[in-house]
Amino acid sequence: MAQPTDEVTALEAAPFISVVDRELSAHLSLARERLASLAPDALELVDALVSLVEAGGKRMRPLLCYWGHRAGGGVSGRPLARAGAAIELLHTSAIIHDDLIDRSELRRGKPTAFGKLGGSAAVLAGDLAQAYADELLVGSGFASELTMAAFVHFNRMRVEAVSGEFMDLSIAARGGAGVEEARARRIAALKSGSYSVVGPRLVGASLAGAGEPVLAALRSYGEPLGEAFQLRDDVLGTFGDPAMTGKDRDGDIRLGKRSTMVAKALRLGSPAERRLLLERLGTGGLSADEVEEVRKVIRGSGALAETIELANELAALATASLHAAPIESNAGVALAALANEMAVRDA
Ligand code: IPE
Ligand code: MG
Repeated sequence: MAQPTDEVTALEAAPFISVVDRELSAHLSLARERLASLAPDALELVDALVSLVEAGGKRMRPLLCYWGHRAGGGVSGRPLARAGAAIELLHTSAIIHDDLIDRSELRRGKPTAFGKLGGSAAVLAGDLAQAYADELLVGSGFASELTMAAFVHFNRMRVEAVSGEFMDLSIAARGGAGVEEARARRIAALKSGSYSVVGPRLVGASLAGAGEPVLAALRSYGEPLGEAFQLRDDVLGTFGDPAMTGKDRDGDIRLGKRSTMVAKALRLGSPAERRLLLERLGTGGLSADEVEEVRKVIRGSGALAETIELANELAALATASLHAAPIESNAGVALAALANEMAVRDA
């Protein structure tokens, strides 16, 4: 097992993220070299991963992994940076597949893997990202009992993300009637809250050998915050500034996403507004004006304000859960600040 050195024990969150980035680049270069002799034609798949990783991203999941590790009493170092890189690659895989499912052309301000390579190659690029993610986690350098404990959470992240994505797409495909808010909230928790917030914390904490009381405290923080994060994502997906989010803001409406915000609009809107929503959501070929009218109904019905308020309430709940939590105090302070940032972010 790699021992933390003075250099690495001094790592705090921001330098930690640069080490994560270094590990990501190093691992992808190594992967590229190996693939060059194995199957040079497949190099464009690794190149797609490199360009997506280099295009940006907030690196929120490695950061949460870091604070989960600290909350569990762990000391950061290169092994944790490799675990953080594994989590970022899992996210890379998830967004490649999500962009294919949603037929999105733009991500992080750049053409998506789906847009550049087509759907079939995007499936493979996403799979490859997961293979490299496993490789990084398994080879992170932690003792094998710790790695195995973390792997349970790592794997649960993807099982839950897949289940939530499936529920999301099957509801949008069914169209027609609305969706209850409770169901929309459950989908958000599964498809993104689990792998974006709860899971990274549990992976980090279990790599520190944290026991059930710490893990339980991290769950009570992560679950409301995971939902707040996705609620904010839904708000940004429809009302955000594409220059900030790097994504197109008509996509969710055109696809007929049944988000919590949309469920609220269907509940709060007048009968005429409800009819307009049901007619337009998920209808191909809407004009820009028609999309704008849907946006107006979501705002005018009060659904936008209610969603923002719910995200803020959930973030406050997450923060409040930290007060009595048996976790290291710096980690508590950092996690409270993160909760606030994640629920009010603009990108
Ligand atoms: C977007 O995640 C996809 C969701 C799960 C909601 P992020 O908002 O973390 O995207 P990046 O990594 O910063 O680009
Ligand atoms: Mg999607």
